[in-house]
Amino acid sequence: MSRNILITGGTGFIGSRLTDRWLAQGHSVTILSRRPLAAVKRWNRRVQSVSALDELRDARFDTLVNLAGEGIADARWSEARKQILRDSRIRLTESLVQWSVRSGQKYDVVLSGSAVGYYGAFPGSASPELTESSPAGKDFAARLCQDWENVAQGFGMTTQRLVVLRTGLVLDAGGGMLERMRLPFLLGLGGPIADGRQVLSWIHREDYCKAVDFLLESQLSGPVNMTAPNPVSNAGLTRALARALHRPAFLPAPAFALKLLLGEMSELLLKGQKVIPGKLLAADFPFSYADTDSAMEAIFSSRDTKG
Ligand SMILES: NC(=O)c1ccc[n+]([C@@H]2O[C@H](COP(=O)([O-])OP(=O)(O)OC[C@H]3O[C@@H](n4cnc5c(N)ncnc54)[C@H](OP(=O)(O)O)[C@@H]3O)[C@@H](O)[C@H]2O)c1
Repeated sequence: MSRNILITGGTGFIGSRLTDRWLAQGHSVTILSRRPLAAVKRWNRRVQSVSALDELRDARFDTLVNLAGEGIADARWSEARKQILRDSRIRLTESLVQWSVRSGQKYDVVLSGSAVGYYGAFPGSASPELTESSPAGKDFAARLCQDWENVAQGFGMTTQRLVVLRTGLVLDAGGGMLERMRLPFLLGLGGPIADGRQVLSWIHREDYCKAVDFLLESQLSGPVNMTAPNPVSNAGLTRALARALHRPAFLPAPAFALKLLLGEMSELLLKGQKVIPGKLLAADFPFSYADTDSAMEAIFSSRDTKG
């Protein structure tokens, strides 16, 4: 079935790959973006793009994918930055809900963003196994995700099915956390963070996009953990990256230095959560990259992605 998709965050690391796939699959894609001309140019006029929802006038969409949000790790978490992180997700989602009701949208399915930070952050290897029914955490990132998810419940009035994407660390070349880690490793300056035991819940970008398509066609609803079946320790990810890049990884980044440098945001690196994709596994979603070695190998052996 050919879909008429509205996406926010369609120009980002995840959304741009989804847009590529959907165009190749013959879907029609409209992107809400602060730079609509750049979006239209990037896809050679094969997408529509608007900077404000009211520009969409009488348009009707059967699918909404809501991913927009300022980069959570792009700047130190001052109070002003925290407000920007919240507004770019929660207020944007609020206005999307209001516009959807006002314009009489009747979606077949809505996928709305969240993150594994929902469950809180645990030091060292302390994280229990977390599935979609695990309770929420209490720190800034956890509250941000809960509030984002709560506002998205408003889509219930306009859609047959609402899925909340509790996204783990998305790995691929060309963006996200891996791109930031790559340069120090190439320079031989990579290494584990603190004692390296904190757990990372990750997913290869290709599996992420396949899982989004799987969710569009499935009957699943509610929160879905968008992570690979095997979370990894920070030291384990470091070793996999070093092996794939054929570089050493022995220079540890001490916790105190990261706290000084990054403030509260250092929690993203110093703590973690062991998230299991309970619903995707129960639905037999076929992961292509279940462990970090196969993911890194695929990412860094592809000729397109070599730097
Ligand atoms: N990548 C990961 O590892 C990861 C992990 C967990 C959760 N997530 C969540 O998944 C979503 C997409 O992630 P990503 O890695 O693709 O992010 P990204 O590359 O940083 O892209 C973010 C997107 O959000 C839009 N955006 C940013 N700030 C905005 C603002 N102030 N107002 C309106 N739109 C804004 C941008 O659109 P324009 O510039 O076109 O306006 C851009 O397309 C994010 O919400 C992120 O929190 C990502």
